[in-house]
Amino acid sequence: MNETPTTKFLSLLRNPVSYLGLSVTVLSAGLGIPLMLLDMLSASGNAYLGMMIYMVLPGTGVGGAALAGMGMWWEHYRRTHGGQTLPLPRLDLNDARDRVIAVGALALAVVVAATLSVAGYRAYHFTESVTFCGKLCHEVMKPEHTAYQYSAHARVPCVSCHVGEGAGWFVRSKLSGLYQVYSVTFNKFSRPIKTPVHSLRPAQDTCEKCHWPAKFFGGLQKVFTHRISDEKNSPWQVQMLLKVGGGDPETGAAGGIHWHMNIKNKVYYVSDESREVIPWVRLVGPDGKVTEYTTTEDPPKPEEIAKMPLRLMDCVDCHNRPSHVYKPADRVVDGAFELGQLDPSLPFLKRESVRLLAASYATQTEALAAIRKGLPEFYAKNYPKVLEAKRPAVDAAAETVARLFSSYIFPEMKTDWRVHPNHAGHRDSDGCYRCHDGLHKSADGAVVTKSCDACHSVLAQGPPQDVARARLATQQFKHPVEGVDVVEMKCSMCHNGAPGL
Ligand code: HEC
Ligand code: HEC
Ligand code: HEC
Ligand code: HEC
Ligand code: HEC
Ligand code: HEC
Repeated sequence: MNETPTTKFLSLLRNPVSYLGLSVTVLSAGLGIPLMLLDMLSASGNAYLGMMIYMVLPGTGVGGAALAGMGMWWEHYRRTHGGQTLPLPRLDLNDARDRVIAVGALALAVVVAATLSVAGYRAYHFTESVTFCGKLCHEVMKPEHTAYQYSAHARVPCVSCHVGEGAGWFVRSKLSGLYQVYSVTFNKFSRPIKTPVHSLRPAQDTCEKCHWPAKFFGGLQKVFTHRISDEKNSPWQVQMLLKVGGGDPETGAAGGIHWHMNIKNKVYYVSDESREVIPWVRLVGPDGKVTEYTTTEDPPKPEEIAKMPLRLMDCVDCHNRPSHVYKPADRVVDGAFELGQLDPSLPFLKRESVRLLAASYATQTEALAAIRKGLPEFYAKNYPKVLEAKRPAVDAAAETVARLFSSYIFPEMKTDWRVHPNHAGHRDSDGCYRCHDGLHKSADGAVVTKSCDACHSVLAQGPPQDVARARLATQQFKHPVEGVDVVEMKCSMCHNGAPGL
């Protein structure tokens, strides 16, 4: 036989290890290429198939090739130490023994391929599960996983929002997952986990699989029941009609709050890293008319705006907390009163609960101890008679506040409402007021509206017993604390989760 360097090199493949490696590679390609064609031809990408095609099979393929390489290296070593070149195996299908070997090898290959597929599929399933996402790296994901369980989306798997359908995003998520495993293993992750999630998939591919923007229209009546921080924990209710809107241009005008949802209008903006400060907004109307609004409060220069990344507004610019809702301290306490978990006859219970929740702690253990000790202590010092008469109610209240703390506040990960504010509103953080603050103006004098009636109408307000008897009618919002100019002042100046404390 003529020995050229190439044939000599290739002959190194003649060893059992390389044979095994090569067959694994060939099998992977044989399985992967037809599946890939299938995936490319089908309109909706299937993530399960994607896992096989783009992760498992290439993995085994490369593994096989590596094995073949190792075999060659071993063979080279063997030959340079006096070993003989093995002859190629002879296969004669007329020979019964060879036939058995050939059929056996084929069967074995099929079994191996099937096992690999099932294993890959199972591994895939596991990495998609809420257990994997939320519990595996327990300390890191504890805030997200805990708050998730209290949200409207508690039964929506993490991947429905974070990955969605299709192989491309699946691979991206697994690649970023590898980095995450690294950062958790080497303790390199940031506390808190930074938001916004810049790599979040556009909402059209996730949220809109379940929520159909063209189909929400009309209003949503919401009742906010609060407790004032006075001695009596006086209840205070605001009922309002939120003009959610949305709309299908086929059946009517797209309007209301969901007017932004890219059905007819497109809103672009630039912002700081956190998306909390939005100095410039561009509106593209249905007729293509462009209006650009710049803040009049410390306006950026046009060249500065040009340097900032432009973002098209979508669902998560308002619903940035659809699932990990870290509620502010005063809201969770209001909620517990409403559910009857806190006894309103205990003086200043609202104020003291909020104070204990909003204080700063290094660990959850420290916080829970401080709450369980602090609440009875407050009553022992200021209302000893109340404590004597209502010890069980005080202890139960302390337990409730401790539970609220562990559901919404995570000192180890430095995560709470102050770090991750909810943008679907404007009281506890700027939210809508990031643009609708009355200060964003266009060159021809148009202003992004701050009119209180643009987004909602207050229908009734005051103590609940009065609200229950009131006739619902559009009215101006009366702030429960006198002397607060709610039109001029931003709510978030004072409402930081613990106003007045
Ligand atoms: C209904 C959709 C939805 C579901 C379900 C969901 N998330 Fe999220 N998640 C989001 C959105 C939207 C953000 C982005 C917030 C932002 O960019 O400001 C986010 C942010 C995060 C962040 C960044 C830190 C933070 O607290 O905002 C982590 C980590 C996270 N999610 C993990 C999870 C895990 C783990 C699960 C499952 C237990 C899950 N998510 C389920 C929508 C969802
Ligand atoms: C797998 C389906 C599914 C996906 C994906 C999904 N949702 Fe939902 N969402 C639901 C269901 C079901 C409810 C109603 C839950 C209920 O009424 O208890 C809901 C409720 C809501 C609500 C009203 C309740 C609330 O929290 O105030 C909002 C807002 C919402 N979703 C926004 C989003 C956004 C934004 C996304 C994308 C980041 C998203 N959803 C992704 C199924 C989904
Ligand atoms: C301009 C901000 C904004 C945008 C953008 C936005 N929403 Fe909303 N959405 C709201 C507000 C405000 C409400 C009123 C209820 C509330 O405060 O949670 C609401 C209500 C909802 C509800 C509950 C409706 C009901 O009747 O109970 C769903 C579901 C919802 N939005 C989904 C979406 C989805 C999906 C998208 C993206 C396609 C989206 N929203 C885009 C602000 C927005
Ligand atoms: C990134 C900037 C931005 C944010 C954030 C934003 N909007 Fe807007 N919104 C606009 C612009 C621009 C317009 C068009 C100018 C106008 O009508 O004032 C608009 C218009 C509106 C309109 C009037 C629609 C109509 O029929 O004319 C409503 C209602 C509205 N927004 C509600 C909200 C609510 C509620 C939020 C918070 C949950 C919010 N917006 C957050 C930029 C924003
Ligand atoms: C750009 C839209 C928009 C504008 C303008 C706006 N609001 Fe709101 N407002 C909202 C949204 C959204 C919520 C939150 C609804 C929710 O939490 O579900 C809200 C909530 C409220 C609440 C209820 C707070 C609570 O938790 O009890 C009050 C009160 C209120 N707004 C008053 C006002 C007043 C007063 C003005 C005028 C100075 C105003 N709003 C302007 C969108 C708007
Ligand atoms: C100058 C500070 C300040 C401003 C600005 C302000 N508030 Fe308040 N607000 C307070 C204080 C203090 C309380 C009483 C808190 C308590 O008693 O727990 C309060 C109470 C409330 C309550 C009663 C429920 C509760 O938590 O006690 C509502 C609702 C409310 N504010 C809405 C708003 C809205 C909406 C805006 C913006 C349009 C706003 N406030 C602006 C200081 C302010």
